[in-house]
Amino acid sequence: MRVLLIGGGGREHALALGLAADPSVDQLVAAPGNPGIAEVAQLRQVDATDPAAVAALAVETEADLVVIGPEAPLVAGVADAVRAKGIPVFGPSAAAARLEGSKAFAKEIMTAAGVPTARAYACAGRDEIERALDEFGAPYVVKDDGLAAGKGVVVTADRAAALAHAERCGRVVVEEYLAGPEVSLFVVTDGETAFPLLPAQDFKRAGDGDTGPNTGGMGAYAPLPWAPPDLVDDVLDRVVRPTLTELRRRGTPFAGLLYVGLALTADGPKVIEFNARFGDPETQVVLALLDSPLGGLLHAAATGTLAAHPPLRWRPGAAVTVVVASAGYPASPRTGDVIDGADAPGIVHAGTARRAEDGALISAGGRVLCATATGPDLAAAREAAYALVDRVTLNGSHHRRDIALAAVEGRVELPDR
Ligand code: AMP
Ligand code: GLY
Repeated sequence: MRVLLIGGGGREHALALGLAADPSVDQLVAAPGNPGIAEVAQLRQVDATDPAAVAALAVETEADLVVIGPEAPLVAGVADAVRAKGIPVFGPSAAAARLEGSKAFAKEIMTAAGVPTARAYACAGRDEIERALDEFGAPYVVKDDGLAAGKGVVVTADRAAALAHAERCGRVVVEEYLAGPEVSLFVVTDGETAFPLLPAQDFKRAGDGDTGPNTGGMGAYAPLPWAPPDLVDDVLDRVVRPTLTELRRRGTPFAGLLYVGLALTADGPKVIEFNARFGDPETQVVLALLDSPLGGLLHAAATGTLAAHPPLRWRPGAAVTVVVASAGYPASPRTGDVIDGADAPGIVHAGTARRAEDGALISAGGRVLCATATGPDLAAAREAAYALVDRVTLNGSHHRRDIALAAVEGRVELPDR
């Protein structure tokens, strides 16, 4: 099968590695890709958010499957344009991707479907915002209503900071704070049948000990040794199936990757957010453990044939990924610095580029690369991932030193239920 992969970050490099390893994939084209993806795919240039341009590229490359990595093309209707050409596409329609594109829409669907989530108000204007902040109390949670790459959310005990963020955003969602460990559960679905992947945990804050600003994600691990054994079934029953049913009922079925971001609270799992695509960097660890061929799975989801797909197989052990970020990330990432030591297996490229003059590998974004490793257990995977990080040099870079540490040390606590 010929696959066209849209995107060019760490998630897409992990997807490219998985697709290239699938014997049924005999041609892999990525657009725009990055220098890591270039090692396993042919790269093409495209404006990934231009539906007509991506559809034309899918036709030109005779793609049997188009896989869309990031959210912006989905929200822009790229999947719809490709599907209109009769080409199977892994990624939801623009209408279904509103689950990620609008926090207010996601809340509306969850309310209609009876899905447990934080109580919330969509607010505009200072009076409404202040009323919502005071009703819920500290810690305050304020979210930009639109797409913000994980950076539009402020969680703070400082009321003035919460108010200032809300006023910068315009339309916001103010919601109740959910206390409990966070889980990312990915579900591959054709709109009807749902295949859960391994639960993973992401580290959203920039600094060790969950300090500093929110980021797109600074590291991840899977599986979760501390998770309740019925977690996945519980989330399928209480969150995934009702959500898929509600979207089908509205005539906008969700086919693609449903990312369920949860907090495991004293009242059970509650949804923090939905995304309409694979999470980054959780994808790096989840796919490192997936043993079933990735292309076949995504093709089945794209063609509505998941019910006939065999159960997923997983490799034993655990996986850890650590993000190496550029100086100044997330506020004002510096780019153009030379990267050394990024040629080892397990280095996943995110914001990297080749310097025009000499082909040197340089930083080109905030999250520059991820060091991903597997091991027989979480402690071994963690050590291997940090050994990979230590081989990389990038002037001014920073990374968290505590990815997966609390889980290795048995310090992740579930609230009493
Ligand atoms: P989001 O973009 O909605 O995923 O939010 C980014 C991060 O902010 C989440 O991963 C959480 O760490 C935190 N967060 C968002 N909403 C809440 C909430 N209601 N309660 C506690 N933390 C939250
Ligand atoms: N890792 C968080 C996200 O992809 O949104």
